[in-house]
Amino acid sequence: NWTMEEFIGKEIKRIKEICGPTGRVIGAVSGGVDSTVAAKLMHEAIGDRFHAIMVDNGVLRLNEGQTVYERLNKDLGVNLTLVDASELFLSRLEGVEDPEQKRRIIGNTFINVFEEEALKIEALAEMEAEKGGDRKGKIEWLLQGTLYPDVIESISFKGPSATIKTHHNVGGLLKDMKLKLIEPLRELFKDEVRALGRLLSIPTHLVQRHPFPGPGLAIRILGPVTREQVKILQKADSIYIEEIRNAGLYDQISQAFAVLLPVKAVGVMGDKRTCEQVIALRAVQSEDFMTADWFVFPAPVLRKISSRITNEVEGINRVTYDISSKPPATVEWL
Ligand code: XMP
Repeated sequence: NWTMEEFIGKEIKRIKEICGPTGRVIGAVSGGVDSTVAAKLMHEAIGDRFHAIMVDNGVLRLNEGQTVYERLNKDLGVNLTLVDASELFLSRLEGVEDPEQKRRIIGNTFINVFEEEALKIEALAEMEAEKGGDRKGKIEWLLQGTLYPDVIESISFKGPSATIKTHHNVGGLLKDMKLKLIEPLRELFKDEVRALGRLLSIPTHLVQRHPFPGPGLAIRILGPVTREQVKILQKADSIYIEEIRNAGLYDQISQAFAVLLPVKAVGVMGDKRTCEQVIALRAVQSEDFMTADWFVFPAPVLRKISSRITNEVEGINRVTYDISSKPPATVEWL
C-alpha cells in the first residue's frame, strides 16, 4: 500500500544509494514507454552519470531515432547517445526472409553495437575521471526496464531468440563488462509505469505509446528487407498512425501498424495498368496481447487512410485491412 509519489521518492533514494557518489549506469532506450520512464527516473536520481543509448537499427519507424533523441535529450534532459547503425543492420539482413533469422540478426547486432558504444562511453568517462585521480569513470550498472509481469512469467515470443523482447539478451554485457542489473520498474505493472511517467512530467503522448517490437519493421516486411522496402513501409505506417491520431482513436487501440506484402497486385493509373505492392493495416484491442480483437474503424477513417497511402506512397496501389483476431492469428504477421 504505497502511493506513486512515495514510490518515486523511495526508488530515487535507493538508486542513489546503490550507485554511490560516483557510480555510472548505462541503459538502452527505444522510445517506448518502459525505457523512457526508466531513463527519466535514473536521470532524476543520478543525472548525467546515467548514460542512455538509442540504437538506430535501420528498421525503426519514420524519423524515430531523431524524434526520440529530441524528446529524451532535449525535452527530458536525459544524457543520450543516438547511434546510427542502420548500414550495419541492413547489410546483415540482406537477403534474409526467415523471420526468426531476422530476429536473431537484429538481436545479436544490437548487442554488438550497444557494447561497443558502452565501451566508448566508459573510455571517455575514465579519461575525464583520471584528471580527478579516481575511478569515477567506471560503468557498474546496466539499466533494464523490466516490469512485474516480466518477472513473474518470462513472456516468451515466437522462436528461441525472441526473448530479445526489450533487448533483454544482455548476458554478454553482464559478463564481459562485469555489469550488475538495475531494474527500477520491476515491482510495477504497465498502468503504474504510465502513472509514474506522468508524475515524472513525461508528456502523455509518450506514456500512452503503443508497443513496438524490437525487430521493428523487419518483421513487418514479408520478404527480404531492403532500404527501399523500409522506406515504403515507414511512409505508409506514418500516414496510418497520423490519421489514427487525427481521428482521436489512438488511445482506444492497443497496437496499430502497417505491414508490407511483397506481392504484385494489379492496379490502374490513368489508362495504364500498374503492378505494385500491397499494404495491410492492423489494429487490435487487447488486455495483455495474449488474445486480441481487431479494431472496428469508422469507415470514413479507413477510406481516408487508404486513399492517402495509395496516393502518397510510391510503389503501393492497394490497401487491405486485417480482420483477424488472436487466436488463431497473432498480432504480428511474422
Ligand atoms: P504476437 O504477434 O505474438 O505479438 O501476437 C504479441 C505482442 O508481442 C510483440 N512482439 C514482439 N516484440 N520482439 C518484440 O520485442 C519480437 O520479436 C516480437 N514479436 C511480437 C507484438 O508487437 C505484440 O505487441
